[in-house]
Amino acid sequence: MRFSRALAVAILALCPLAAVAQAAPAPKVPQKPVQKPAPPQGVAQTPPIHPNNKNLLSGTPPMGWNSWNFFAGRVTDQDIRNAADQLVATGMKDAGYIYVNIDDTWEGDRDADGVLHSNSKFPDMKALADYVHSKGLKFGIYSSPGPQTCARFAASLDHEVQDAQLYAAWGVDYLKYDLCSFHSVVMAAQAPNDKAAQMRLMIAAYDKMNRALKATGRPIVYSLCQYGWDAVWEWGPSVGANLWRTTGDIQPNWQSIYSILNEQAGLAKYAGPGHWNDPDMLEVGNGQHVGTGDRARFVELTLAENRTHFSMWAMLAAPLLAGNDLPNMKPEILAILTNRDVIAIDQDRLGREATRAYSDGELDVWTRPLSGGAMAIAVINAGSDRYSTHPFHLSLAKLGLHGPLQGKDLWTGKEITLTDNMPIELASHDILLVRIPAPK
Ligand code: GLA
Repeated sequence: MRFSRALAVAILALCPLAAVAQAAPAPKVPQKPVQKPAPPQGVAQTPPIHPNNKNLLSGTPPMGWNSWNFFAGRVTDQDIRNAADQLVATGMKDAGYIYVNIDDTWEGDRDADGVLHSNSKFPDMKALADYVHSKGLKFGIYSSPGPQTCARFAASLDHEVQDAQLYAAWGVDYLKYDLCSFHSVVMAAQAPNDKAAQMRLMIAAYDKMNRALKATGRPIVYSLCQYGWDAVWEWGPSVGANLWRTTGDIQPNWQSIYSILNEQAGLAKYAGPGHWNDPDMLEVGNGQHVGTGDRARFVELTLAENRTHFSMWAMLAAPLLAGNDLPNMKPEILAILTNRDVIAIDQDRLGREATRAYSDGELDVWTRPLSGGAMAIAVINAGSDRYSTHPFHLSLAKLGLHGPLQGKDLWTGKEITLTDNMPIELASHDILLVRIPAPK
């Protein structure tokens, strides 16, 4: 059975025990996520690069799987083990998907010493981490700088050092740190009328956990999640971030994916080896319930939309964190997620993100410089079907290029020759993704 995140949250709200009905002690029940306030206006602070900020990643964007986009608050220990098993069995691990990340709703209560325990959905975190590691994979976890996570589970405020030590003891390799209640409980409460002071509090909170992680001595990828507030790309590296969310939450529909994509234009200069813009996790293979009553139906992303989403996240040098139901993945979705040529774009050693070269009506053209002088060109049809009767025309001149250019179409796997003003037929929301070895 397929679930959308909205449905999962609705189920949790209506039937809280469904997600956590296991052994005592009863964990905190997932509730409606904390409503996020509107982003404040930019009051960018640019603190100096922290001297302890050594990039933990070898240089390329992290790849793996995260529980939130499919399971949301229903995720259990068994789901994480299944995901690890499937990454191996499907060949995704061999394609580069290494991190297995539990998102929100694993947390239980703190004991008298302030030590955080997992809830009954996750009976033994150390054993789970060991299981993931035994598969040759890495283990990720989630918390917030506030007192509660977005799903209102216990978070790290005033326990940063203790939590970081706990993660290290469990064998955590990756932390997603999500602003959530820190905004209302600390920022808005301590500096109600001073947005700049609020932002300083936020940056300090991210640096506090950065230092706590560093102090463990364990390499832990540090993933900031605060929806892009205060131009995080300008200060993320200074608080040790390996990646930072640039947007609000992605949804499994084209409008969400395309609007996030457009928000990334202009951010290329902030990404580079070891520190990446994060336009949120992949929705490839997902869908959502729409309509009510007789009109209620489940709408999956089309194959074209899945292809374009995956291609463009690769063009953006984004972390490739799959978010689908791995045990029930269709072969065509696996084929998209394991397209080695597209993954190679994402993981290119040069680490330069794509820029939008031009838009022309329903057509968008993005280019990404690659190592060895190569280049990737993406042509997107953001509108309706365009067939031979009314194709697009690709302007190589607008890309500063001269045809003919020999390249590889990364979705057909065939050779392609690009010429100036060549007609391009694309179905709605589909993409032409070409790798050019040596453009002229
Ligand atoms: C926020 C984040 C999501 C997810 C949820 C979990 O909304 O942006 O990616 O982690 O919290 O509650």
